Amino acid sequence: MQKSKTLILGGSSLIAQYLIKHLENKSVSVDFTYNKVEYKSGFRLDINNKQSVEDFMEIVSKNQYDCIINFIGKLSKQSIYTDESEILEDIMKINFTSVISIVERLIKRNLLNNGKVIFLSSISGIEGSYDANYAAAKAALNMYVKSRVRSLDSNLANLIAICPTLIEDSAMYKSMGEGEWVTHKNKRANGKLLTFRDVILKILEVINTESKLINGKIISI
Ligand SMILES: NC(=O)c1ccc[n+]([C@@H]2O[C@H](COP(=O)([O-])OP(=O)(O)OC[C@H]3O[C@@H](n4cnc5c(N)ncnc54)[C@H](OP(=O)(O)O)[C@@H]3O)[C@@H](O)[C@H]2O)c1
Repeated sequence: MQKSKTLILGGSSLIAQYLIKHLENKSVSVDFTYNKVEYKSGFRLDINNKQSVEDFMEIVSKNQYDCIINFIGKLSKQSIYTDESEILEDIMKINFTSVISIVERLIKRNLLNNGKVIFLSSISGIEGSYDANYAAAKAALNMYVKSRVRSLDSNLANLIAICPTLIEDSAMYKSMGEGEWVTHKNKRANGKLLTFRDVILKILEVINTESKLINGKIISI
């Protein structure tokens, strides 16, 4: 039997690293990308840099994946820009435009025969949040998933968005303070933040669900 193969975009996210270890323990072969933080394994990819994208496309062009999972994303308050329209543009690119563009290219090159593309989106793309730019970009991502499946041949790819609330110990969690953690905890029925494990279990559930049941779905956790 052929070993299953997964491509993780944004593999340097701590949540993604946790998932990679889990998949590798289950004998799934994993390729992943990193941007700023360098890894011995993995492929360098800055989705906002044309040459970096071309180099990455060249490297993966001979591969076939059963699943692509995107973790690439960014909160706008981490942005170094001061001009409002530059912030909006940067956040839209990293959370939406550049991600969609690269995924479309991967699909069109037939790298994902009958597989799934799982996007780590955000609950803010459904409910809104204090970070309007980020929420708007994730809302665009969700609507892309919901709409694109109408024209995309499901034999080529199936698209799913997972929309988590704040995840404890993640980079985004660490960029916030006690006040924001409490606000997010209060929004959850059990009064606790999501853990890496909760997110990974949901991703595995999506991977293992029959494609036609979840193609185009926006899944809140
Ligand atoms: N953490 C949460 O509470 C939470 C909640 C809801 C949704 N999410 C979503 O989950 C995903 C992961 O979040 P996280 O908290 O783990 O954040 P993170 O550690 O900052 O992960 C973001 C990933 O995006 C990559 N990235 C950023 N800019 C890039 C660029 N220009 N080109 C290529 N890669 C780029 C980062 O790579 P480098 O680090 O190498 O730059 C990193 O791998 C994000 O999409 C986020 O929106 C997170």
